[in-house]
Order: sequence, then C-alpha cells, then structure tokens
Amino acid sequence: MKVILIACLLLASTMAWKSFAPGEGPFSHLSEDEFAARYLMPLENDALQTPPTFNANEFKSIFGTHGFSWRTHDTMSHCVGKIRNQGKCGSCWAHAIAEFLSDRYCIQSQGALNTTFAPQFMVDCAGLDYEAEGCDGAETQTMLSWVEKYGLVNETCYPYFSGDTQDKGTCHDTTCTDGSPSINHGVEDGSVKLFFNYTNVDLAHELMNNGPLYFSMVVFGDFKEYHGGVYHPIDYTMKGTHAIKCVGWGYDEPSASFYWECANSWTEEWGEDGFFRIGFNDFIGYKAGSARMGTSKVPHLFSS
Ligand SMILES: *[C@@H]1O[C@H](CO)[C@@H](O)[C@H](O)[C@H]1NC(C)=O
Ligand SMILES: *[C@@H]1O[C@H](CO)[C@@H](O)[C@H](O)[C@H]1NC(C)=O
Ligand SMILES: *[C@@H]1O[C@H](CO)[C@@H](O)[C@H](O)[C@H]1NC(C)=O
Repeated sequence: MKVILIACLLLASTMAWKSFAPGEGPFSHLSEDEFAARYLMPLENDALQTPPTFNANEFKSIFGTHGFSWRTHDTMSHCVGKIRNQGKCGSCWAHAIAEFLSDRYCIQSQGALNTTFAPQFMVDCAGLDYEAEGCDGAETQTMLSWVEKYGLVNETCYPYFSGDTQDKGTCHDTTCTDGSPSINHGVEDGSVKLFFNYTNVDLAHELMNNGPLYFSMVVFGDFKEYHGGVYHPIDYTMKGTHAIKCVGWGYDEPSASFYWECANSWTEEWGEDGFFRIGFNDFIGYKAGSARMGTSKVPHLFSS
C-alpha cells in the first residue's frame, strides 16, 4: 500500500486530474459526514479485499493500449444508458445493478432491446434476507442472487422516487406503479458470476465479451470533488463504499497508467458528464460481478 501511495502522489504531481473549485460541484453544500451518510455505503471490512494482481506488461501484451469502451462501440453505443441521479438515498447498489443489466440486455440483443431497468423495484422489494436496506445500502453480491430469483421490471413501470423521499416505498411486485400488470425480466439461469481473486485481465475479457460490469469500490476523500481526467487519489482517507458500473478501460500516456471508465449515479454535473476514469491501482477494495439477462419473462415469485 505504501508503495502504491508514493507512486500515485508522484503521478498526481505530474498529471493532475481536475477537481471542482472550492464551493462548486454538486456536493459543495454538504459536510463530509452528510455526504457519506446520503451517498455512500458503510465501509465494511470484507470490502477491503486485496486489489487484483496487476501486471501492466502482461495486460499490454494481451490487449495493447488502444482501450475499449461500450460508449463508442460502433452499433452498441446507444446501449449505454443515460447517467442517473440516485438523489438523497444510498441506493447506488440498485442503480449499479439496474444499469449494468439494462446495458447488457441491449448488447445481448444486438441493440434491439433498449430497456431501462428500475432501481426502485429493488429498493422497495429486496429485504434483509438479501442484506438489502433500501436507502441505507445493500450487499451488492447477494443482490445479484436476488435479481436471479425475482427478475427486474422496467423504469416506466416502476419509476424512481427514493432520491426525493429519502426512504424506500412499499413493494408492489405484480403491478406497476400505475396499477397495470408488470412484466418481470429474469437473469439467465446460472449466469451470475462473482469475481474473487480475479485479475484485471479476467475483468477486461468479461467486460469486452459480455458488456459493462458492476463493481463496488472504496471511496477516498477527494473522489466527490472529481471533475475530469484519470483519477488518482491524493486524499487517501477511506469514506465508505459505493457501487458503480464500468463500461470500458483505457491507457493514459501522461501518467503511464491503465484505467477503468465507469458511470456514476451522481448526475451529469459530477465528473466527466457523469462518468469517471480511475487508475487500476487506485480502484481498491472492490468486488465485481456480472450476469446475463434472460430474454424470457419470469413468473412473479412473491406477492405484495
Ligand atoms: C434507447 O432508450 C433511450 C431512453 O429511453 C433513448 O434515449 C434512446 O434514443 C433509445 N435508443 C434507441 C436506439 O432506441
Ligand atoms: C415497460 O413494462 C411495461 C409492463 O411492465 C410494458 O407495458 C412497457 O411496454 C414497458 N416499456 C418499455 C419501454 O419497455
Ligand atoms: C482468495 O485468495 C486468498 C489468498 O490466496 C484465499 O485465502 C481466499 O480463500 C481466496 N478467496 C476465494 C473466494 O477464492
């Protein structure tokens, strides 16, 4: 850790990423504690896994340095959903899962199924048996199993509101918010994959072959101020964990570092139009997961 820290401080001095000016940016009106309480999930010990082993030369010899992004991937770029706003609710986990599965559903169908899945369905309907606590966060990995079992409904059917109410609502699993019958889309049986002890090579293969990935990451002190460039933290204070979707990877010449390109759910005002790029070695303590959406409908498995 010490070695990484020193290397990153050196990089930061030669190639600074952009941050919001003091008093600007979407979170400038919040104290550190308010920000953590509203937007992050608690830091748990099991989040602090060793970062994946990374051998830059090996990575380079397999993939080169030209990078890859679903946002610019010829006929599939429209599959990458719009940047969302989780609002004043720690529902990043539901956003990350809904977003990466919406994009994959589209990519799997060669761009034909342009559906936006609903985070609110998970916020309202998943409970403590799956370690989900609405606006107070959830265990992202168990939630993939929940989705495997219960499926997802679309955003038109179940629009998001917890960002305003700051709390979960009452689950309705067989009907949409307007009372019409809902359609649940299931995850393909056995397709849920969790990455333990993975390498960045494994993750890059999975991302390029099957679509965006979801990650949970440790959030450092200055992450909320990020406004562009390849992020290498300068303030290494750990503030909490956060779930996001990653859509690509690339290589930054000035800092000679590989990075992930990811979508946040903090509006387009934050970061690079809502996206961010983060050095492989600065993306620590995270877990990753993937799944494939099934194209068939799933039965309603529980009643409201
Ligand atoms: C996909 O859906 C989004 C959001 O509804 C819309 O903005 C976009 O134009 C759609 N793309 C296609 C190719 O239908
Ligand atoms: C969303 O789901 C509802 C039923 O749950 C369906 O009637 C509607 O066509 C779907 N909309 C989109 C855009 O897929
Ligand atoms: C990951 O690797 C560590 C150390 O080699 C080992 O103790 C642990 O059991 C592994 N975890 C999984 C889920 O494979």
